[in-house]
Parts: sequence; C-alpha cells; structure tokens
Amino acid sequence: MRDVLIIGGGVAGLTLALSVAEHRQVTLLRPLHDHQGASQWAQGGIAAVLSPQDDIEAHIADTLTAGDGLCDAAAVRFTVTHGPAAIDWLLELGMPFTPDTSPDAPYPYHLTREGGHGVRRVIHADDATGRALIDTLLAQAARHPAITLRDDLTAVRLASDSHGRCCGAHCLTASGKPLTLPARDTVLASGGASGLYQHTTSPQPACGEGMLMAAELGAELMNLEFQQFHPTCLYDPGGAPFLISEALRGEGGVLKNLAGERFMPSLDPRGELAPRDIVARAIDAEMQREGGQHLWLDISHLPADDIRRQFPTIHAHCLSRGIDITQAPIPVVPAAHYSCGGIATDLHGASSVPHLYAIGESACTGLHGANRMASNSLLECLVFARAAAQHLLDGASSEGSQPTTTAIQGAWEQQAATTDSPEWVAERFATLRRVMSRQVGIVRSDAGLANAEQALAALEHEVRHDARQHSVSVPLARLQHALRLARLSVMAARQRRESRGLNFNRDCPFQAPLALASRLTLDDLSTR
Ligand code: SIN
Repeated sequence: MRDVLIIGGGVAGLTLALSVAEHRQVTLLRPLHDHQGASQWAQGGIAAVLSPQDDIEAHIADTLTAGDGLCDAAAVRFTVTHGPAAIDWLLELGMPFTPDTSPDAPYPYHLTREGGHGVRRVIHADDATGRALIDTLLAQAARHPAITLRDDLTAVRLASDSHGRCCGAHCLTASGKPLTLPARDTVLASGGASGLYQHTTSPQPACGEGMLMAAELGAELMNLEFQQFHPTCLYDPGGAPFLISEALRGEGGVLKNLAGERFMPSLDPRGELAPRDIVARAIDAEMQREGGQHLWLDISHLPADDIRRQFPTIHAHCLSRGIDITQAPIPVVPAAHYSCGGIATDLHGASSVPHLYAIGESACTGLHGANRMASNSLLECLVFARAAAQHLLDGASSEGSQPTTTAIQGAWEQQAATTDSPEWVAERFATLRRVMSRQVGIVRSDAGLANAEQALAALEHEVRHDARQHSVSVPLARLQHALRLARLSVMAARQRRESRGLNFNRDCPFQAPLALASRLTLDDLSTR
C-alpha cells in the first residue's frame, strides 16, 4: 500500500509532496494535461504580508471585505498569518521572485497591487508567477528520492474500504488500462471547476472531477454557487484563452467602454481595483448596454519600457496576436477563472471522509467566502498544503485503524476497458458548457437556473443511458463527474435566495441579513 497518494501536480500538490517527503513515501499523479493546469497560468502572484508598510490585520480585513460577508474568519486569519513563512520557504527553494531594485524599496522583492487589496502586497515573478512556481517545485520534486511522479495515470474514482475510509484511487492509463493505487492517505489537489464553462482563462481547466470523486465517497461540498469570472481575459476569437493579469490594473491600467469612456470610477470608489465580482458585473452590464463583444483595458499611458519589463509575457503574447499594448488598448472580456467552492475541509485540509484530504482549488476552506480576492489562491495552496503535510506527519490521520483495500481491485478492473468515445463525449460536454455559460454565469435569474437544472438533468439521464454501452474511459468519467457537479452547482445557486459576491440573481438582488455557507452532498441530487 502507498503511503501518501496525491492526485494533482499543481502548486498545492507539489508543495504537499515536498513538505511530507522527508518522512513519508509519496506517489503524485500528474497526468500530462496537468502541464496545462491552472497553477501554470497564474500571472499576478501570491498575496502575503511582506512589506513593513502592511500588516496582518489589513490583509485579513481586505479578504473579508472581498468575500462579501461569507468568509470563515478563522480560515482567513490562519491563511494570512502563515503567509510570510510560506514565502520564506519558497525563497529557500530558489523561487525567482522579481526583485525591487528601487532605492526606497520597502522589501527586497517587488510587490504589486490587485483588486481588493488596500496596499501593495502581491509578490510575483514578472507576469508568469505560476510558471516559475511550478518549475521551481517540480524540479525539487523530480529529484526527491521519496517522491514518485506518475504522468501515465489519471484517477477516475476514489477507493474506499467497508468503513467508508478513503484508501486510494482507481486510475486509467493513457491506453485505458485500469489500475488501482491503494494508499493510507489520499490528497486531492485536482483543481476547480471553471471547465464547466465555455470561455475560461486557462486552456484546459479542471471540470470539478476531484470534487465529485470526493462527493462519491460522501464528502460535503461547500459554496459551489460561487464561480469567479476574471474581468479581463483577452478577447481573441479563434485564439487560445489568455489572461490579462489584474496587475495591469494594479499598475494603473484603466477599463474603457467601446466609446472610449471609463465607467468604473462612477460605480465604485475603488474604480478598476474594486473586487472582481464587482468589476466583472460592471463589464458584463456595459457590454449588454453597448451590445459589444468586448471592452478595452488600456495601460498605454505607462512608458513602453516599463510595460515590456513588468509584463513581458502579456506584451509578447498580445504582440503575437497583433496588439501592441504599449500603443493600443487591449480588447478584454470576462471568463470563468476560479471556483471559490469545493470540498469542505478543516484547517488541516482534512475532508469529512477519513483519510481523504483536499487542498488548492478543489477544496473550500472558507478563505474566499463569496468572492476570492486576487492572488489569495496561490497563498491558500501553499499554506494549506503545508498544514495538511504537518497533519499527516503528526500522525493524526492514522488515528484508528488504517484503511483496508482488499476486494476493491477486482470489481473496478472488470468495469474498465480500453474502448473510448471522445466525439460522443465532446458533444455532450459542449452542451453542458453552453447551458452553464448561458444560465449560470455572471448574472443569473430564477427562470434561467430552473431551465439549467432541467437541461442538465435530462443530459445526465441521456449520458447515463448511453454510457451503459461504453466502458469506463477518462473522457466519459470526466463528463459524468462534470455533469453531476454542474447540477449540484445549480442547486446551490437556486437555494441561495439572495445576491452575494459572485452569485448575483436578478430575481433576488438583495443580501440576506445572515451570511450562510451552502453545503451539499451527492445524496441531495438523488432526492431530485
Ligand atoms: C491575475 O493575475 O489577474 C490573476 C491572479 C489571480 O487570479 O489571483
């Protein structure tokens, strides 16, 4: 039996692997599509209290404000307090953060600003922080003798013993061969659910597979209705999704409508640096009003050399698409970016299922509440991965007997086979994404949510029927997980009879006096 099995090789999974590997043997599943995972595309950076001009209470207050009353105050304090140590750990590993060479620098590394933050507190590596982080962590993990990285397996179901304890995962190889990996402790670090939408800020976002796998073992899912749309994705029909970092607005970039007028200052005193839910809604409203396909983000007032130095990735990418951002405004549009909800966990990353942990975007720790503040997510990945590692090392998870794995293997291996059905699955996926984008997007309505519920239930029924003729495959398992997660997300949105943070319903535009997290299990779906 494996000691610790980690599913997902983004910042959270790799951090946990490195943090336990001195004392426990780790197997980390990082299938090839993880190279395209959300961590890799993070541009802005990591929010943490590093400057002497900043303080813990201010970061906490900004996070609570952005979260619109729904943050778990203990999770916020825990994350913010442990932030500086996490950054020190990264510096020890050699993370190439951008230095601040100015004579009056308050901190040796450059700190930028993003929406919701009252001060500069986002440490970054140019405008490609995620890529630098992954490179740094992966290089360490790849040479660690206690870490086995496997890029040949995709987990499609979690395994449990007769006591309901998680005991590893059922996987498929690239050619569809089934394999069960038994484990004493299993950690999901498998990303969020932005892939339920048509337009996203990263090319291959997760579709909530990990969240649903946990729910299949009985884990509680929390706050699924809070899907974040990043206000500024490059509008590039036919091109690959590409994020335009909020750091551009942090450095003075302004949003303009197609008539060339700024609109944020009249809507919110924080202007372009208001929290994301507010900015994305304002852009959406302005686009509806003008009937346009995009808006403009203009940074061209800055000296061209500064733009090229501070935003080399964005500058080069836009130039390759025919836009010189030193001269011209950038066409932007909101796109699905981050899932604030996920598997409910405690401050150690433990889920409600024994021996199952969740970290990173697949988890819901309560930090983000109804709207995540920019650059708090990489911070959460680091802090909770390190906390979960400590919990595993303290032996807390081995309390009681270990999970047993006899008899789980045979049944699974009979179900799985090599046949695949990519086209059939892709069509259903496209329908799912169309429904979610049209009815469960930035602005929702009771009728739209009711339609979405019906359409998704019918689609799931059809898929279940057709799936009987097919063997288990990675695409089919993904589709089934995505459909059920989408249905749960719609249910959570329908049950929230208020507008708060990212969940704006025009039929109940007011905020309830009491902010309550939503919690659902898979049983809630079967009662429909
Ligand atoms: C960005 O650079 O705008 C993205 C940062 C984040 O989503 O936290």
